[in-house]
Amino acid sequence: MTTPEKLYEGKAKIVYKTDDPEILLTFYKDDATAFNAQKRGTIVGKGQINCTISRHLFQLLESQGIPTHLIDTPSPNEMRVRRVTIVPIEVIVRNIAAGSLCKQTGVPLGTLIKPALVEYCYKNDALGDPLLTRDRLFLLNLATPEQLEEIRTLSLQINQVLSEFFNQCGITLVDFKLEFGITSDQQLVLADEISPDTCRLWDQSQTDPNQRVMDKDRFRQDLGNVESAYQRVLERVLSGIQAQS
Ligand code: TMP
Ligand code: ASP
Repeated sequence: MTTPEKLYEGKAKIVYKTDDPEILLTFYKDDATAFNAQKRGTIVGKGQINCTISRHLFQLLESQGIPTHLIDTPSPNEMRVRRVTIVPIEVIVRNIAAGSLCKQTGVPLGTLIKPALVEYCYKNDALGDPLLTRDRLFLLNLATPEQLEEIRTLSLQINQVLSEFFNQCGITLVDFKLEFGITSDQQLVLADEISPDTCRLWDQSQTDPNQRVMDKDRFRQDLGNVESAYQRVLERVLSGIQAQS
């Protein structure tokens, strides 16, 4: 076997070429960053946990008719995916107010948001992933109006499926970030990952605002027990998937 050629290394994953130009191999790292990489650390076992959670959530979404880039997972921290051109928009869906929404608008933490809020940020680390208006998004040619409509519709469908699933796992899906890509045959598909790195997940069996956090906020806010929280999310997801089959 020859060493695969590295195409790109991001903060949480490395992307390799494969023999098939339409297929890429993503390696999920244990590295963790926050606040646009100003805070760095390691979450031991995160790569395997996030890859496995993402695989199951992508498969669940596929079963509900949502196209994703997932092909398969040859090992616990490797995912083979369809090669796509990433749309440089980070889509954030919010069911409960937290994070930057509270900071930027003063809406109190924990406020129920119904219908869910869909926000778009410019995927651009140099600019700090700023929040976009619809007009700015079109000014920058990040997507066509048709693509944006499709992205919004898919994001709300994904929210429906994932909120229901996590609820069955005893977890509240507070908010999450999605990325979409376009395949060589121009299909819009869900890409990147869905994991405790990219979602806010609150344990429904805990009422204490710090105890309930099962996601990367434990790392961002130095709440401790990061590894065990990620592990508990994995266990709940695996049980939830098993209960469905
Ligand atoms: P925010 O409240 O900080 O804007 O985050 C909203 C959601 O998006 C939260 O679930 C964490 C996720 N997120 C990412 O996946 N990547 C990022 O770079 C940021 C800022 C947030
Ligand atoms: N992933 C982002 C970063 O490093 C931010 C975050 O998830 O908080 O920097």
